[in-house]
Amino acid sequence: MKKKLLCLLMTATLALSMFAACSNSKSGKKIGVAMPTKDLQRWNQDGANMQKELEAAGYDVDLQYANNDISTQVAQVENMINSGCKVLVIASIDGDSLGTVLDMAKEKDIPVIAYDRLIMNSDAVSYYATFDNYMVGTKQGQYIVDTLDLDNADGPFNMEITAGDPGDNNALYFYNGAMDVLKPYIDEGKIVVKSGQTDFATVATAEWKTENAQNRMDAIISKEYSDGTNLDICLCSNDSTAYGVANSLSANYKGEWPIITGQDCDKLNVKNMIAGKQSMSIFKDTRTLATKVVEMVDAIMQGKEPVTNDTSTYNNGKKVVPSYLCEPVFADKDNYKELLIDSGYYTEADLA
Ligand code: BGC
Repeated sequence: MKKKLLCLLMTATLALSMFAACSNSKSGKKIGVAMPTKDLQRWNQDGANMQKELEAAGYDVDLQYANNDISTQVAQVENMINSGCKVLVIASIDGDSLGTVLDMAKEKDIPVIAYDRLIMNSDAVSYYATFDNYMVGTKQGQYIVDTLDLDNADGPFNMEITAGDPGDNNALYFYNGAMDVLKPYIDEGKIVVKSGQTDFATVATAEWKTENAQNRMDAIISKEYSDGTNLDICLCSNDSTAYGVANSLSANYKGEWPIITGQDCDKLNVKNMIAGKQSMSIFKDTRTLATKVVEMVDAIMQGKEPVTNDTSTYNNGKKVVPSYLCEPVFADKDNYKELLIDSGYYTEADLA
């Protein structure tokens, strides 16, 4: 008898919680969110913010991380399509590898939002939301110009360049943005890249991996800077590569600590910034991006046109994808408290 009662009670509780879940969600409208990897802090934050905001707006969320493995991401997206997701939000691992699976989405009229990274060579991409990637690069370059007062200083200053993953469409934008600012100084000889490694393919970092950036810098330091020559500038496209470069310098380099740029304001890198081991990082508030993308999803679900602010820059090889570009800002040791702590992005304890 007791058992029966307990069983009834459990069934009723389950039914109630299912009812609550259903009435809270927009009648079971599921959104698929595909993120590249849990290895990098930013994607964990992006995924968590997207999930939180989509659920608050009443959607069900299928959030997947693909361990930086392309075939895993393809399988996850296929599964989202087959399990009834109404919109797909995808931060791709490799911009060129999703064309076939996205053809399936197109056949089923499922809109696709490319999140942060553009998905290439597919006409199934409906919208793109990101931070202005070219501006990320120009801000890194301008930081170097301003900090060294390059227009007035004599120089020459030695610089080495570490860029991102060639499979990520953003990486070239970051590199081009920074190089467009710095190239005139290289041309006039005020900045010297001693290794001679300047073109994107040579300075790129496979998978944005810290250890790959570190190994390359180890080789450069032992060849060019082990005799005590100063290295003044390390232009690094993001924080995972900046971290590898700083590790390499800590282990191998005896000269004055250079300017090191970065991007993402990952906790480890902000700690390095506070410790004087990284000069700046571009802050891309993942909350802002998540909010924008949720607005896009909501507009699509209501049959409205999402707001975009750039309809010319991002050609993915098949079409110019209407985009919303958020504005990045730079953080350094002077403004990080205001940007990162006062805004509630991090707590003091996160950075201790
Ligand atoms: C993102 C960066 C990130 C990098 C490595 C890029 O696509 O825009 O914020 O640092 O990928 O994950």
